[in-house]
Amino acid sequence: MELLADDVLEASPVVANRAMNRERRLAGRDGYARVLGFDVLAFLRPGARWLDLCCGSGRALLDAAAARPDLDVTGVDLVGFFAASGPVRFETASITTWAPAGEFDLVTCVHGLHYVGDKLGALLRAASWLARDGVFAANFDVAGVRLPDGAPAARRVLPALREAGFTYDGRARRIRREGPFDGALPFRYLGADDRAGPNYTGQPAVHSCYEPSPL
Ligand SMILES: C[S@@+](CC[C@H](N)C(=O)[O-])C[C@H]1O[C@@H](n2cnc3c(N)ncnc32)[C@H](O)[C@@H]1O
Repeated sequence: MELLADDVLEASPVVANRAMNRERRLAGRDGYARVLGFDVLAFLRPGARWLDLCCGSGRALLDAAAARPDLDVTGVDLVGFFAASGPVRFETASITTWAPAGEFDLVTCVHGLHYVGDKLGALLRAASWLARDGVFAANFDVAGVRLPDGAPAARRVLPALREAGFTYDGRARRIRREGPFDGALPFRYLGADDRAGPNYTGQPAVHSCYEPSPL
């Protein structure tokens, strides 16, 4: 397995392709509520801050801002195909290097981690940006996390994630955490494989390779 550094991965057609679905809305059959398993607007109290990682066109964020002008909404995506600007702050950046100012009541990542190189690092970064009672919720397929020989790392990674306070729903392939986390995980990121083929979504995804590493 040839492993790519994140800058090479992020230029790869699997990650930066134009055909990817970046148009998801907040509600509806394939909307954020359904994919995340909860109603974002019902969760967010007045004036709350919502950060959406790998936000695509940002349509779901624009829907939220239109329905709830009280919210402070930020979207980050590697590719700046944002539908409009206006009430949503959009940033063109990789979530593996971008850092926000301040903390968030909700951090989400809808079908974005499948394309990220250092997935575990991204989980830690997202959790570190949470307010005291903030929530992180994302689609996450642990099968995309691999050991150096290419074998699935789930049996090692899931207990470590649990220990760090993340809950993983293996059936829905969703990960969640409540409250901020500033710790580490006992793995060292080695690089990514953009030739892993389709994952459970049916779309080509990225495998992320780690070696166990004491904390
Ligand atoms: C399948 S799309 C989902 C977009 C949006 N969340 C939605 O559901 O409509 C995945 C998105 O992840 C973005 N992405 C991939 N790797 C990224 C990275 N390292 N940092 C930020 N965004 C990334 C892609 O550009 C793409 O817009």
